[in-house]
Amino acid sequence: MSGEPDSPRVRPHLTALPGYEPVTPVDQLAARAGVDVADVLKLDANENPFGASDAVLRAVAEYRGWSVYPDPLQLDLRAALAGYAGVTPERVVAGAGSDELIELTVRALVGPGQRVVSCPPTFGMYRFLCDVAAIPLDEVERGADFGIDVEAVLAAIRPETALVILASPNNPSGTPLGDDALVALLDSGATIAIDEAYGEYAGTSALERFGDHPRLIAFRTFSKWAGLAGLRAGYGVFHPDLASVLLRIKQPYNVNLAAEVAMRAAIDAKEELLAQAARVVEERGALARDIAALGWLTPYPSSANFLLCAVEGGSSDAGARLHAALAERGVFVRYFGAPRLRDCVRISCPRPDQHEALMTHLRAAGAGLGLA
Ligand SMILES: Cc1ncc(COP(=O)(O)O)c(C=O)c1O
Repeated sequence: MSGEPDSPRVRPHLTALPGYEPVTPVDQLAARAGVDVADVLKLDANENPFGASDAVLRAVAEYRGWSVYPDPLQLDLRAALAGYAGVTPERVVAGAGSDELIELTVRALVGPGQRVVSCPPTFGMYRFLCDVAAIPLDEVERGADFGIDVEAVLAAIRPETALVILASPNNPSGTPLGDDALVALLDSGATIAIDEAYGEYAGTSALERFGDHPRLIAFRTFSKWAGLAGLRAGYGVFHPDLASVLLRIKQPYNVNLAAEVAMRAAIDAKEELLAQAARVVEERGALARDIAALGWLTPYPSSANFLLCAVEGGSSDAGARLHAALAERGVFVRYFGAPRLRDCVRISCPRPDQHEALMTHLRAAGAGLGLA
């Protein structure tokens, strides 16, 4: 046991780490709230409310090749991903979720004495991965509208900065990164990684305009638009030299065959899945209008499949209170304890047929908290 005289000597920076704050599995949430899992509105992890497509489920169910290892070079998979992303296969590497590619990229690029820049509030994985690897992270706070402060980011980039990582659209705010900002960042000489986990909902990708830039990296995932979060299926687009290094340093069988089969089937079913993403975008618009009409909850503009919403005139712990009140009703949204987000909750877009139920719960929770 830790602390006993002959216990393993864990690296000191790791013993103090709080660990990544994950979402709780839905059955545990339902049990806690005393509601049936089927009645839960799980809107806390930006998953696809429609689930995986039937075509993908069929492809995985019908596949029979589980007894052999996957292709470590991912040749067929990378070709399919490259076709989808509109790039050449030598620039693509697949991973167990985009999280794995982010970690591999940090491992490949950031050496001793080097640093990473990111812009909070943002996806917690960047801090988590840097903390685990004992890499100094320079955090440049986003502005009041959650856009990045380009001048401040440029000022934070030093010769030791090996990587700048920015989510676009950003999580949890939904804010996209503009082309001008990206041009300025690329002009700085730094390597810029754009995390496009929600790209299919934004309808744009940095790859469209800057895909050939040698210092641009894009991370993509099938977790959101393709409804495959549980399979861990993501990829990245890199300069071919970096991709070649990543292919050599990754675990050889990092993408399991179920994830590979599912990714390829999802690409084949992309028209259906992208049409579904468009329905989520419509729902985002409808939800933003109805939430704003409540009068006490204000959504920030979002290009993703979720809305960050601020409780108006609420106390400093208003986000936590709304989060708890909704959870009691079987509605699970995300709350972040970070100072700038204490009056906020992040709500993933539900299916359109769940919209009215969500609004009813929001009205009741708001009334119960004296907000309405
Ligand atoms: C910005 C961002 N990047 C990456 C991820 C993780 O994606 P994956 O499931 O592919 O690891 C998430 C998940 O919430 C995210 O919000």
